[in-house]
Amino acid sequence: MTTNVLEVQAIHTFIGQFHILEGVSVSVPKGGITVLLGRNGAGKTTTLRSIMGLTPPSQGSILLDGESLVGRRPYTIAQMGVGYVPEHRAIFRELSVRENLVIAQRQRGDLERRLDFIFELFPDLKRLYHLPGGNLSGGQQQMLAVARALVPDNRLLLIDEPSEGLAPVIIEHLIAAIRKLAAQATVLLVEQNFRVASLLADRYVIIDDGQSVATGAMQDLRQDEQLVQKYLGVA
Ligand SMILES: Nc1ncnc2c1ncn2[C@@H]1O[C@H](COP(=O)(O)OP(=O)(O)OP(=O)(O)O)[C@@H](O)[C@H]1O
Ligand SMILES: [Mg+2]
Repeated sequence: MTTNVLEVQAIHTFIGQFHILEGVSVSVPKGGITVLLGRNGAGKTTTLRSIMGLTPPSQGSILLDGESLVGRRPYTIAQMGVGYVPEHRAIFRELSVRENLVIAQRQRGDLERRLDFIFELFPDLKRLYHLPGGNLSGGQQQMLAVARALVPDNRLLLIDEPSEGLAPVIIEHLIAAIRKLAAQATVLLVEQNFRVASLLADRYVIIDDGQSVATGAMQDLRQDEQLVQKYLGVA
């Protein structure tokens, strides 16, 4: 029996005729934050989409608390307790903040149960509760996108590049909120900003050219300049 919430073993994923993932393995222990790192186009988003069943793998295995996800539909995977916050914060611009959260419910009463926690993490959303999503700033929309994944009781959250395109002060808010939510949930994060990744994550997996090439404790990676330079191109 595994103690990992998520165990991705040597998956291969095609998009059309393109062989995008060619052996990606990711272990996500219960609690805390694991980050997927890698250059643009390395395959980070495709890894999250493969876990979610949106681009299902043709080979390899994906286990959620020991149960296989391969071959299941995205809505089934969502119902099993996997929350997905895609890149570019897709929220409903015409719906109010409240309505965006209401439709994220999986069961009646989810939102009532979780609203205090959501407002504690993102106080702005309380103030903006009845405004249309489209009136929110980029940072507030990202907070709403993350909040939606917190409405149902998820055991794993997949969050793709939450800091992308946000002002530094907003990124600090988001870091604090993701830290707090990770105390209650397990997070698999994609984050290009190495500083943000190292502030948040306990563990890392580096993906390069469709393969996972390194994994370990984030505190070891911070000291491994060679590895960081080789795969991430940052000092
Ligand atoms: N729909 C598609 N059709 C063809 N190729 C695709 C498609 N989607 C992604 N790819 C390719 O798959 C590879 C991995 O893409 P992916 O989006 O997973 O990378 P990423 O690591 O998330 O990059 P980024 O940091 O830019 O978000 C890239 O080479 C990309 O061009
Ligand atoms: Mg991506």
